[in-house]
Parts: sequence; C-alpha cells; structure tokens
Amino acid sequence: MRLQPIHIGNVTTENNVFLAPLAGYTNYPFRRLVKGYGAGLCYTEMVSAKGLKYGNENTESLLYTDNHEGLTAAQIFGNDPAIMRAACENPALAPFPIVDINMGCPVPKIYKNGEGSALLENPAHAEKIVRECVKSGKIITVKCRIGIDKAHIITAEFAKRMEGAGASLITVHGRTKDKVYAGEVDYKEIAAAKKAVQIPVIANGGVFCKADADKLLDETGADGVMIARAALFEPQVFCQITGAKTESKREMFEKQLAWTKEHFDERFTTVFMRKMAAFYVKGERGAAAYKERLFAAQTPEQVLEIACEIWN
Ligand SMILES: Cc1cc2nc3c(=O)[nH]c(=O)nc-3n(C[C@H](O)[C@H](O)[C@H](O)COP(=O)(O)O)c2cc1C
Repeated sequence: MRLQPIHIGNVTTENNVFLAPLAGYTNYPFRRLVKGYGAGLCYTEMVSAKGLKYGNENTESLLYTDNHEGLTAAQIFGNDPAIMRAACENPALAPFPIVDINMGCPVPKIYKNGEGSALLENPAHAEKIVRECVKSGKIITVKCRIGIDKAHIITAEFAKRMEGAGASLITVHGRTKDKVYAGEVDYKEIAAAKKAVQIPVIANGGVFCKADADKLLDETGADGVMIARAALFEPQVFCQITGAKTESKREMFEKQLAWTKEHFDERFTTVFMRKMAAFYVKGERGAAAYKERLFAAQTPEQVLEIACEIWN
C-alpha cells in the first residue's frame, strides 16, 4: 500500500496505518510499542464519557499517556451530547488533540444504552453529539460500522452526515453490527463512504498482513487502514506494512513487560502480560501447554521466565 500522511483537522499523522482502539488492550505501553513499529496513529481504548464525568479512577488510568508516544487519539463512548462534550473538555483528555467517538460497539450493554453502534440507528442524534463535541475545540473523528444489519446499511449517508456535523475523519469498519467481528468485510460500502465525503476515510476490518492492507486500500480507495486483532497476535505486523525496523518476539515481550510494569501495578502487569503472551504464542508448537503455565504465573517475573523459555 502507498504510505502517506493523513491530515486530520490541523494535525498530520506520519502515515496512514493506524492502530485501532481495543478495549482492554490499547493502553499506553502497548500503544508505545506499536508506535515504535511504525503506526501512524494509535487510539486509546474506548472510555466512558459518563465515567469521566463522575471521575471514575479506572477511566483516568485508561487514559494515561506521556510524551513518548506522540500524536494519539482518545476514544470515548456515550449518548448524551452535553456529557460527551464535557468529556472532550475533561483535563484527562488534555494530552489528546483528537477525540474519536465510538459509533460501532456491538456489546449489548452499550447498545442498549443507545451508545456505540446504537447511534447508527439514530443519525440525527449522532450528528448532535458530533456538533456538540466539536464545540470543545478538539478534533473530532468518528468510528462506525456500515450498518446494523444487512437490511439497514447506511454507510455513505451516515459518513456524509458526520462530515456535515463537523467530523474531521471517519473510520469505517466494513461489517454490520450483527456480525460483530466475523464475516466478510464489505469493500463496496467502505468505497461508498469514501466517495461520499471530502474528509479522510480509514478502512477497517480483516487486515492481518501486508497483502490484506494492500487489498483493503485497493478495493475501497480509502485513505488509510486501521488494524485491530492482528495487532494483538503480532504487533510487528506494523513493521511489515510500514517498513519500520522489527525485532524478535522475545525482545518485544521484554520491552512491553518492562513498560507495563513501569505504569501499572504488579497484579495488572501479571494478568495483562499473561493475556498478551497467550496471544503471541498462538500457532507455536506446544502453545496449549505454555498457555496453561502462563495462566498459573503469579508475578511479572514468572510470566517473563515462561516467555523467555518459549522464545529462547
Ligand atoms: C478485544 C476487542 C476490543 C475492541 N475494542 C474496541 C473499542 O474500544 N473501540 C472500538 O471502536 N472498537 C473496538 N473493537 C473493534 C476494533 O477496533 C475493530 O473495529 C474490529 O476488531 C475490526 O478490525 P480487525 O478485523 O482488524 O480486528 C474491539 C475489538 C476487539 C476484538
């Protein structure tokens, strides 16, 4: 794929290969790692606008960042335009010039609250949210799906309305809400969104290697790609696509564990790095036995010891 910077409002990314928001994963040390592997822009995991309003401690720790990672987008979810705007203005979001609004999450608890993918069913309300958030002075972007189900596909019209409301970029996950993360990515719908708007369109869904990224861009004409699950199995997929210098799994794991330990407590580091190692070990010989041992590890040092055995 052709690497190119993306202009989002008054900021510019280094390239057009983005790390998706991933709840439970795209914390600061993980984003820093992926940024080092060439990602043009990384997103925080989704953070509740209401959680920010009530000063939920967990919400603020999800937004931890420092100056090592450069330009980063924070993603928020919610339904109330005033609360969403207040979230954009919350000091916890001060380090993030870009605020992305989640309009794709299919999780029942979120959907039933009128948040995430439920906003696809109510474009007028989605517009209100974007308009209100833009007043915060942040650069507002939207991440959506192509529709709720096959009978309700709304990509191009929705993209146009979000642009009209003031969004500076739109990411389209080329699946309907009812498909969650399974099934084919609808290239035609992403292409329709791209044709409908002037703002940059980022295509998302099903990129697991460079060839997938090439195909997604060729078929959709989008300005860039966003990668989610592949980053969990193999963060170095960003090196493959961007040409950044890669490193071994062991070097990567040691680095990520050290950074995670610097920013989170021992219990979080143990549990999080066990989960990451279980992703990274997929497809390796003896993976099942290693996973069992990993999940019995009680300290970051024990997790590291097992990881070093796997990737010795
Ligand atoms: C574990 C997990 C967590 C996710 N969390 C978020 C999230 O916080 N915000 C969001 O917009 N999408 C979230 N997504 C969706 C992804 O960002 C992405 O749109 C989807 O996985 C399709 O991309 P992929 O085929 O590259 O995985 C999540 C997906 C997974 C698998």
